[in-house]
Amino acid sequence: MIRYQTSHRWDGPDTNPKAGAQPPVQAALTTSGLRSRTGSQLACVRCHDQHSQTNSPFLRVANNSDQLCLDCHRSRNRNSAASGTHPIGVTYATAYANMTSKFYPAPVNANPANPSSAMRLNGGSVICSTCHGIHYSDGNSGNYDSYSSFAGLTPSDGNLLRTDLRGATANAVNICTNCHKGKFAHDKNGQNVQCTDCHGGHVDLGDGTKPNSNLVKRQMTFSSASVRLGTVRRDSRRPRSRPTLPAATVSAKYVIPYR
Ligand code: HEC
Ligand code: HEC
Ligand code: HEC
Ligand code: HEC
Ligand code: HEC
Repeated sequence: MIRYQTSHRWDGPDTNPKAGAQPPVQAALTTSGLRSRTGSQLACVRCHDQHSQTNSPFLRVANNSDQLCLDCHRSRNRNSAASGTHPIGVTYATAYANMTSKFYPAPVNANPANPSSAMRLNGGSVICSTCHGIHYSDGNSGNYDSYSSFAGLTPSDGNLLRTDLRGATANAVNICTNCHKGKFAHDKNGQNVQCTDCHGGHVDLGDGTKPNSNLVKRQMTFSSASVRLGTVRRDSRRPRSRPTLPAATVSAKYVIPYR
């Protein structure tokens, strides 16, 4: 059984502005015509070197501070949400000290029994791998994410999140309320509009247009307890097979046209 999409892609073009991705520049990632040898495609060997364990597990460069991720995805190496992408390289404890009412003292975990759904700070900082895994990540806090539990992973919407994009109930802990305190779903009449219905982790289109402030999406998806839509960008970004989501009932009045 094929399980979509619990791993970083290893095929397709290495360039995708909507994913903030461009060809890498570090020597270890461009060595010996690596890019042309793979036809400018992603491939295992773009990230791994099967002959060197200098950077375990067979990585071409050390990735303890996301050096690998931040080469290709360097346009998202930003520390302000005004750029349309979640700040990284910010020290969590400092953010908390500055705004104790807006953050938990340390990130919480939707499922404390599962260490793989915990947000991972790096030397105290928020980075890509705080929120994202790379392989075996299904964005479900109920599952232990590891090769040993591959069979138990659920089909994923492909954002490689460590924990839930939406919570099971309106105000259950989700990937945003792991850290951000004092904000709640819109649920007065049972609408169940959660953080990521209005916000994205990244709302930059990569085409130079100005994103909304505060990571507010350009287009809202409408979801309810029984209808769950995927991410907002239902466009040409990832045309390949994705999990089959239930047929959506989208009322026109909730949809702001994609510009
Ligand atoms: C975009 C970069 C990238 C691509 C492409 C990629 N990997 Fe990885 N892989 C990584 C990183 C980073 C890790 C380390 C994960 C960690 O430490 O949690 C890793 C870990 C692994 C591991 C160790 C198991 C684990 O999860 O700890 C194996 C095995 C592996 N990769 C195999 C592959 C194979 C086979 C392919 C191609 C089908 C591939 N990878 C494609 C970046 C990549
Ligand atoms: C060799 C370049 C390269 C490296 C290194 C790389 N990425 Fe990517 N990444 C891409 C490209 C290209 C895409 C867009 C794939 C597509 O078109 O759907 C992408 C897509 C993604 C996605 C969206 C989900 C998906 O698989 O489509 C996430 C999340 C992501 N990358 C995170 C990471 C993280 C975390 C790292 C570091 C461990 C990393 N990337 C390293 C090139 C790279
Ligand atoms: C605070 C958590 C967080 C951090 C930090 C973070 N992301 Fe994300 N990322 C998300 C969420 C949440 C989504 C799913 C967004 C959605 O559904 O709108 C996502 C989606 C993505 C996607 C696919 C969809 C898209 O909009 O492009 C890529 C690629 C990606 N992230 C790459 C990265 C990279 C590279 C970094 C580091 C520079 C990073 N992310 C840091 C939370 C985060
Ligand atoms: C790992 C903890 C963590 C997670 C998870 C997280 N954030 Fe953040 N967020 C932060 C930190 C730390 C800052 C930086 C605060 C600062 O400016 O010092 C921040 C900043 C922001 C800002 C900018 C606020 C401002 O005043 O400039 C927005 C908007 C935001 N986050 C939204 C989100 C959304 C939406 C999610 C869920 C997709 C999310 N965050 C998930 C820790 C987190
Ligand atoms: C109905 C849509 C909607 C929902 C649901 C929503 N937000 Fe927002 N959020 C917004 C808008 C719009 C703004 C910008 C307000 C402004 O610019 O004054 C914003 C601003 C923010 C900011 C930046 C301003 C600040 O107060 O720090 C953060 C952080 C944030 N939201 C986090 C969250 C989190 C976490 C959740 C889920 C618990 C959430 N939001 C749910 C629409 C929403």
